[in-house]
Amino acid sequence: MTDTLTILRPDDWHLHLRDGEMLQGVTLHTANHFARAIIMPNLVPPVVTGAEAEAYRDRIMAAVPASMTFEPLMTLYLTEATQADDVAAAHASGLVKAVKLYPAGATTNSQSGVSNIDNVQGVLERMADIGLPLCVHGEVTDPDIDIFDREAVFIERVLDPVRRRVPGLRVVMEHVTTADAVAYVQADDSGNLAATITTHHLIINRNHILAGGIRPHYYCLPVAKRETHRLALRAAACSGDERFFLGTDSAPHTDEAKLLPCGCAGIFTAPNTMSCLAHVFEEDGALDRLEGFTSRHGPQFYRLPVNSDEVTLSKQADPVRYPEYIETGAGKVTVFDPGFDLFWRVED
Ligand code: DOR
Ligand code: ZN
Repeated sequence: MTDTLTILRPDDWHLHLRDGEMLQGVTLHTANHFARAIIMPNLVPPVVTGAEAEAYRDRIMAAVPASMTFEPLMTLYLTEATQADDVAAAHASGLVKAVKLYPAGATTNSQSGVSNIDNVQGVLERMADIGLPLCVHGEVTDPDIDIFDREAVFIERVLDPVRRRVPGLRVVMEHVTTADAVAYVQADDSGNLAATITTHHLIINRNHILAGGIRPHYYCLPVAKRETHRLALRAAACSGDERFFLGTDSAPHTDEAKLLPCGCAGIFTAPNTMSCLAHVFEEDGALDRLEGFTSRHGPQFYRLPVNSDEVTLSKQADPVRYPEYIETGAGKVTVFDPGFDLFWRVED
């Protein structure tokens, strides 16, 4: 039985750290295990300009405990008013590693996002020229489209046409949740397309949210789909295909904001993500591919070096206990419950 596993230190290619008291409370839970993370810009107001990204990076660095090293990889929030020159300058300075597309109204703090993709054509063309990736929240917002179909319809109506119009554009399909998205990535031969997969979408399906009572802590966007889709995500993550890598989408909200008649979308997985992933990859006989998923494929797509240090995971005889929630200055934040005991832990 394998009981220890040493891998290159992982990175998180999709993370929400928020701001203020929440930022102070959650940052160490990622910095504990991860060297770098792509930081989502959906603050209120959003991080739109290079100057705003620089100021946000400084606030994040101030929240990293002195004993830890952590590099936030900043992103810009794409709006219909975004200036291509500002994006290019923020990229050239090394500050910004991606631009994030939120279809307006698709998810938390996406009101300032893009309503008509034609209106950002110039920015996308410049990004293709300079090789700057576009991170895509891939869901249509059309109220006539069933929420469980919004990812598949987005690929057909928005993503594929945009990629044809701007062929050099490098795209990360964020937090994919469907077999359709997996197949779309697998069918691509341009080298310009990749996808992140979250920890929770490898573990839960829609029954976890809705069967036997409604469970707001499993509600996120894109919403978890039926079991066949979860299995397609597991197979993609565990396949060793370099186009799939970890983006936890760890998205902290206070319990107060989650447990409402209209609660927020988002699952907080930062503390136990590596334990959950080791469990998943071991269950699928793919522990030897965990390092690719968490530590190699992401830097390869983002054209960054892999991390130079390592982490060791060890399998315990007794379950590893994580707190049910963490306390932050903003309030209690519930930690993802995978629904089974975890035995792997990251050694200190
Ligand atoms: O569940 C989600 N939470 N999905 C998103 O796209 C946004 C995120 C958040 O910011 O809370
Ligand atoms: Zn997200």
